[in-house]
Amino acid sequence: MKFRNILLSAGLLCAALTGCGEFKSEFSLNEKTTNLMPEAEDVVKEQLHEYFGTPEDLVGWLKFPIDYGAEETVTLRVKSFEESASGKIVLDVAADEQADYQGGSIKVSEEEIYQISSHDPSSGTVFVKPGIEAKLKTGDEVTIVKRHGGWKLKRGRNLYMKHCVHCHGVSGDGEGPTAQYLSPLPRDYRKGVFKFTSTISTEKAARRDLAQTLYEGIQGTSMPSFKLKLIGDDMEAMVGYVRFLATRGEFELRLDGEFGVDYSKDVVTRRIKDEDEKITRQEIIEEFRSMIESDLPDLVDSTATILAEDWERAESPDVMVVPKKPRPEPTPESIARGRALYLSKDTKCADCHGVTGYGDGKQTEEYAQMPGTTPPITYAKPGLYDDWGHPIKPRNLHSGMYRGGRRPIDIFRRISAGIKGTPMPGFGTSLNDDGKIWDLVNYVMSVPYENNSSEIKHAEKEVAEHTVK
Ligand code: HEC
Ligand code: HEC
Repeated sequence: MKFRNILLSAGLLCAALTGCGEFKSEFSLNEKTTNLMPEAEDVVKEQLHEYFGTPEDLVGWLKFPIDYGAEETVTLRVKSFEESASGKIVLDVAADEQADYQGGSIKVSEEEIYQISSHDPSSGTVFVKPGIEAKLKTGDEVTIVKRHGGWKLKRGRNLYMKHCVHCHGVSGDGEGPTAQYLSPLPRDYRKGVFKFTSTISTEKAARRDLAQTLYEGIQGTSMPSFKLKLIGDDMEAMVGYVRFLATRGEFELRLDGEFGVDYSKDVVTRRIKDEDEKITRQEIIEEFRSMIESDLPDLVDSTATILAEDWERAESPDVMVVPKKPRPEPTPESIARGRALYLSKDTKCADCHGVTGYGDGKQTEEYAQMPGTTPPITYAKPGLYDDWGHPIKPRNLHSGMYRGGRRPIDIFRRISAGIKGTPMPGFGTSLNDDGKIWDLVNYVMSVPYENNSSEIKHAEKEVAEHTVK
């Protein structure tokens, strides 16, 4: 673990520390990167390595609002010092029941740093690995590094490797070995897009949203709850590591976007063939290299600034979806208003979820257009697709299953902010009326309790009455 721009000795010492070298896995590249011409691919690879490191030797880029875990130290005096028979050196420091120096180190001077191999808080005894040359004497002052800078990110990484990697993959690409058996697929974090948030539709997920997903799991999917496994610091560390992977992934995608315009393999082939441009491969490579020489530092900096600001903004209370009115009682009137709105042209909920709410609206039979294709290309199979290009079904509202949480406020937020990265739109702006959204919530929450046959008759009657205005 090291920090960008600050070469911490902890980073250099990594090979000697426990926890390093445990993960022989590598971060993989996005296919958008491997579709670049080799010279551009190399630049993306180098930048990722420099600013984010490897799973074994992480780099914390201080520009981002990620809590990497600051160094924590305590200064103590030596009571006694002896070289033990086991080859360890015993250092007796003042007893402190609360202390936990396990995994920390003893700093005698800037050059002399020794890793603590075990610690007995009741006696204040600390064992260090052999090697202290200048013997310590009673009364000497030593600094105990209880936690090295970056400890939280490392802990997040360790927890991720234990609990998440088999589904979400080392790079957070959603391609862990178990993923192929799952539907829906585990999230690919690398777009920086998370579905279930308390923030408005245009903003990223706040820390609390990621923590809620980890706490509750995602009902009706294989995403488990980690309520019992991630406690205290561990939950924060896990959220931080998900953010780290998401930021790394999005940074890569943004560089791919910048370079892809002129330097993807396809574009380069096209440019060489283009009679008007009259350019050779060698000239394209030279053009790319001179662009890199002049623009790369600015490009890297501005890309990171945008990302840092986006993640920072998600924490602001200004972008949180907070209803201005409390939820009205789910009276038959409120439910009827909600249903009318559900069937109306203002929302088109029924186009996806179906008139009767079974998730079988007409859009599930139409051919959707692939985003970013000109001329437009439609998907081979009808139905809806998410931003990751996977087929997705509108929820069957009779199931009573709410992936983003079952509290009325959760459903309010889903309708107001939408489900990010999916076709489920946010209605906070278009309806601009909390009363209407609450009516929709009351309607949605009544659907699982509707009586089947009378409900269908009811629906048909209402469709006729409202003639889907
Ligand atoms: C058994 C497989 C599995 C494991 C293990 C797993 N996940 Fe997931 N996770 C999923 C699936 C599937 C989804 C997507 C659900 C969906 O799209 O509705 C998901 C989604 C997510 C999301 C996205 C939430 C959103 O709003 O978009 C986050 C964040 C996440 N998981 C984090 C984690 C973390 C952190 C761990 C480990 C502590 C973990 N997951 C372990 C399967 C798993
Ligand atoms: C363009 C299609 C589309 C429209 C329009 C649409 N939805 Fe959805 N909706 C979806 C899809 C797709 C999902 C499933 C997303 C997922 O969980 O990955 C969904 C999920 C939901 C959920 C489940 C939330 C959860 O936490 O699991 C609710 C509730 C919902 N929609 C209500 C509505 C209401 C009410 C409207 C109209 C105000 C509406 N939807 C309009 C496509 C749509």
